[in-house]
Amino acid sequence: MASTPTEHRGNWNSKLGFVLAAAGSAIGLGNIWKFPSEVAENGGAAFLLIYVICCFLIGFPVMAAEMSIGRFTKSNPVGAFRILSGKNRFFPLVGAWGVLCGIMILSYYNVIAGWTFSFVFEEVFHFAGMPEWSAYMGDTGNGVKNVISSLFFMLITILVITGGVSGGIERATKTMMPILLGILIMMILYVVTLDGAAEGLRVYLLPDLSKITPPLIFAAMGQSFFSLSLGMGALITYGSYLNKKQNIAESAAYVTLADFGIAFLAGLLIIPAMYVAQNNGVQIYNEAGKLIASDSLVFNVLPQLFHNMSPTSGMIFGTLFFLLLSIAALTSTISLLEVPVSHLIDDWKIKRKHAAWILGSGIAAISAVISFDLSWIGRLDLVFNQIGLPLGGFMICIFLGYYWKVHNAMEEIKQGFDGLEDSFFYKVWPIFIRYICPLLIGAVFTVSVYNLF
Ligand code: TRP
Repeated sequence: MASTPTEHRGNWNSKLGFVLAAAGSAIGLGNIWKFPSEVAENGGAAFLLIYVICCFLIGFPVMAAEMSIGRFTKSNPVGAFRILSGKNRFFPLVGAWGVLCGIMILSYYNVIAGWTFSFVFEEVFHFAGMPEWSAYMGDTGNGVKNVISSLFFMLITILVITGGVSGGIERATKTMMPILLGILIMMILYVVTLDGAAEGLRVYLLPDLSKITPPLIFAAMGQSFFSLSLGMGALITYGSYLNKKQNIAESAAYVTLADFGIAFLAGLLIIPAMYVAQNNGVQIYNEAGKLIASDSLVFNVLPQLFHNMSPTSGMIFGTLFFLLLSIAALTSTISLLEVPVSHLIDDWKIKRKHAAWILGSGIAAISAVISFDLSWIGRLDLVFNQIGLPLGGFMICIFLGYYWKVHNAMEEIKQGFDGLEDSFFYKVWPIFIRYICPLLIGAVFTVSVYNLF
């Protein structure tokens, strides 16, 4: 087996640091921007139900798999597969596919992250009585503005990445995450008191099982991979900075729970808020019952809500919310950029700083193109997220289950997990990795690809 470079690689400073950074990667626009619009588009509570199943039955096992591969190989996805697969030429390609997915997802993610940041100012200008400025900042279709805000966002991402693992990534997430949770809860408490919210709660929480269809299941599975940052090796990379004292199974469980929890809360805020907005005359669905502008749903619904509050609370909640969303997006863009950066560091021996600037500039250039033609968001999302990530997750299961072998991964997981052999995890995880996850992903995939063409 090739020796693995350890000396120059960073490490997480604390146990909480890793969980928070991984949760920071997971929690992002996926939870707050994408999840609620998926719920609204796909039958409310029915989607939520399938989504929970995907998170815990597919997402969690795959997450533990990624973390164990990362910690064992101390490498980025490409290097990790190369180290573990010896002469096999195919599996390193899975890592390379992951790196590509990361780059492409980041290029449109960045544009939406830019929107969230400009909406901070949309709110400020609104409450400062400057409607033209507010409208300018809130115009998601303005290409020039999109370029500027996505460039700005990329710049901050690069700066955190050049700060390294514990100094940059860990410090950034540690302070930001608890604030996020607090604001979300306060806003939910406010929204549920408004007229129309009850209808939203009903749609969100009472499932209509007849709405469960193949496209809904496909969407829920893709969403769970995206939201948990799975399928492209982000958690292989974060796992590679992990020490042997940490319990991988437990960390993966915390991250899955935290990510699901925030998505659930975001739905609890935004779905009722949608119905409140509808109650106030804003059109959310068209005559055919289809959601209008799902990419900008959150950006349409929430400002309405803030603008109808009293000026002081509107200003505070409006600006804080979009600031919070920007921060959540930042901890995710960091992880998306960290994957290709760590690949350049490990395998191309490029300095962290140079790697971050080279990749960051390239991705920002793609974002600039997308900024002017937003239809690319949907296309890239379909290929690299909805198809790319479950495909990556499938390959990770096959690789771990049949090539590297589950007992080797268990040896890795045992470190930091006292009493592993007596645990429930020990009994069921291998079954999930070898059979249940690949079968479920494969089945959903086959049916969907079949439906697509
Ligand atoms: N999970 C993040 C979100 O929900 C997005 C993200 C960050 C991601 N890193 C990732 C998605 C890696 C897929 C793979 O917003």
